[in-house]
Amino acid sequence: MAFSKKTLADINLKNKRVLLRADYNVPVNDDGTITDDYRITQSIPTVEYLLKQGCRVIIVSHLGRPKDEHDKQCSLRPVAKRLSKLLGKPVQFATDCVGEVVEEAASKLESGEVLLLENLRYHPQEEANDKAFAKQLAGLADVFVQDGFGVVHRAHASTSAITKELPSVAGLLLEREVDALNTVMESPTRPLMAVIGGAKISDKIGILNRLIGIADFVVVGGAMANTFLLAQGIDMGKSLVDKDDLPLAREIIERARKEAKKRHFIFYLPQDGVVAHKIDQTAATRIVDWSAHVIASVENYPKNPPRKATEIDDSEMILDVGPFTGAFIAGGVQLSNTVIWNGALGVTETPALNGPVGPFAHGTDMLVDALLGEFGHKPFTVVGGGDTVGYIESRKLTGSFNHVSTGGGAGLELMSGKKLPGVEALQDK
Ligand code: 3PG
Repeated sequence: MAFSKKTLADINLKNKRVLLRADYNVPVNDDGTITDDYRITQSIPTVEYLLKQGCRVIIVSHLGRPKDEHDKQCSLRPVAKRLSKLLGKPVQFATDCVGEVVEEAASKLESGEVLLLENLRYHPQEEANDKAFAKQLAGLADVFVQDGFGVVHRAHASTSAITKELPSVAGLLLEREVDALNTVMESPTRPLMAVIGGAKISDKIGILNRLIGIADFVVVGGAMANTFLLAQGIDMGKSLVDKDDLPLAREIIERARKEAKKRHFIFYLPQDGVVAHKIDQTAATRIVDWSAHVIASVENYPKNPPRKATEIDDSEMILDVGPFTGAFIAGGVQLSNTVIWNGALGVTETPALNGPVGPFAHGTDMLVDALLGEFGHKPFTVVGGGDTVGYIESRKLTGSFNHVSTGGGAGLELMSGKKLPGVEALQDK
């Protein structure tokens, strides 16, 4: 379905005061260093478009989930600096997002200037979708532009109530995200493959259920796969599992089985894994192939196969998919024309002792190689999820994928088929 909301091209923005909602919820170190600025870089085209129109651009955002306004770890000040660097021009910063200080700074803003306001969530009224707070924000501008795709699944003052106060349209990033994610779910070039990782099944239940209905091949990886494997009776040792999600895992497996009876459909769980006693780059690792116990039994007949090869010890945990699983997934990518990827296959955060690939990132690395056409065929690729995007950013590979989403929860909700309050609230075309 084409994007049905008004966008920048649908209204007159010449010399207007614009309140721009961005999602600058980016990781910031204790010393104020931004470790991943993807969300900031992706907002630049909209800011530049507005500046070309001679607008005065007042940007609002949240960062983290601050307890109160004294939680300085959540200040947007470092973002103002990075934004200024990326835009190649000064970005003013206001130490609050409402009140006299802000009103004065906004009123002094000249055409073609940018002002970033302090974290909206320093005021509880933001998350309470408070009308009076929205009115205060609206008082700063003539037009509201929503470009914070990552936050439009929240009905907050700066995503919902504000749209009752000002003419409200979508920015370029929001439009691109909604278009890309809807297209891939509604009319993908088939075969459609999805690789879904992460820790909790309950976070991904919506997208998994929808994918089982529409994809040709669904792969589950990451810690989430452990819970599915446990549901199938495989001993998980010390691996991260979510026992509360076991009924959900059984339900999904049952749905997938039913779907596979109706049409050509594969729901694939890892068959082997890399295990270790600790999550550490120096830990000794080994490969366990829990799917091979039948072959191992036959090969060792009449003796029992060594326990090592097919079972995880009580003190071990699965930290990555094994080479067989990695190769099977890479093979699936070769046969697919569209691949949706959300969630790493292993613990990619553990750094390598040598080289770029960590000890538990080899499965994910093989997937990345396959997605980027290293084995011959390059499908259309859509990548989402904060950790996944962080990983490919750290490998400097973001530009090699067709669409890399800035949305975490928002992307998942949209792809699950849910309506996003921050999009619904904008003016229709
Ligand atoms: C995100 O990072 O997913 C968005 O910025 C929303 O943040 P939230 O989950 O704290 O509302």
